[in-house]
Amino acid sequence: MRSLTDVYDLSVEETKELCEKALDIINAPEKYRDACKYKKLAAVFFEPSTRTRLSFEAAMLDLGGSVLSVSDEKSSSAAKGESLSDTARMLSLYADVIAMRHPREGAAIVAANAASVPIITAGDGGHAHPTQTLTDLLTIYREKGKLEGLKIGVCGDLLYGRTAHSLIRAMSRYEGVSFVLISPRELRLPDYIRRDVSCVETESLDEALPQLDVLYMTRIQRERFRDAQSYERLKDSYILTESKMRRAKKDCIIMHPLPRVNEISVDVDRDPRAAYFRQAGNGKFIRMALILKLLGDSSEKKELHGEKGAFICKNSRCITRTEQELPREYKTDAHGVLRCFYCDAEIK
Ligand code: NCD
Repeated sequence: MRSLTDVYDLSVEETKELCEKALDIINAPEKYRDACKYKKLAAVFFEPSTRTRLSFEAAMLDLGGSVLSVSDEKSSSAAKGESLSDTARMLSLYADVIAMRHPREGAAIVAANAASVPIITAGDGGHAHPTQTLTDLLTIYREKGKLEGLKIGVCGDLLYGRTAHSLIRAMSRYEGVSFVLISPRELRLPDYIRRDVSCVETESLDEALPQLDVLYMTRIQRERFRDAQSYERLKDSYILTESKMRRAKKDCIIMHPLPRVNEISVDVDRDPRAAYFRQAGNGKFIRMALILKLLGDSSEKKELHGEKGAFICKNSRCITRTEQELPREYKTDAHGVLRCFYCDAEIK
């Protein structure tokens, strides 16, 4: 039994196999119509979602399985103070696989350790969102025919944008991929990711645009800001318009995990390079491939643990701040920096 808590839980080879499987599903969906008959997916979302939850549900239904759903934390026992571990343990009694979105960073690890069926994280706070990344990789593969040798611009809220975090980490494993990180200074990519990838940083989308093979736009994540004023100041930092698109390469694709707020003007939608709605469609197929893989995996459950230590994680959004009796655990990164095992925040 395996869970997916991070893009690196899948090797490059396994990620490629998932993309191939998704392409096979796209070409011959009838082959998979009963593949998960009598299996149940619990889609448990403690933060808003349209695409991710519904594409997980549609994926399971198209595999012949069924779906149990929680779409609002307030309607579940989490609102009564139930711990995440207890929720995950209990959900395992009703479902064969669990897709879970949670506002706390590192929640995916806690849920995976407690559950006795595979947990698939569908996003944990501003930290990570590996199934969006699988969707993104399938999209790049379908649109560009390859994952290697691409210059990828990632633009917007790179500090809190979990999709950007997972995408950059995943794509950095492919030969010849480099990144142009386009963000306001206040919203730069966290250094635990930036230090390990080949990238340049800029605040100018206009300057970056002509060099890019892929432009990945992201929304400024209003719900993660501590103060409304900073959000108001930064919210319109980047707006991609039809006239700006004249500076982009003829075969540069525009991606966005959606929802968009203001960062891509609707006039860009008619540009054939606008791939974001095709990208959203790919989400169902790659999630079908992932559900099949995890349900077909008969390996033993492996718990995820770091080194135990006495510290308080300074990230106020970390799961260790709220989960009952969770041991504090850390890891040492490739640069010798100590980090919270759950949320990756530096321990000082
Ligand atoms: C993203 C998310 O939830 O992180 N949406 C999605 O899953 N497609 C992006 C966002 O909310 O900005």
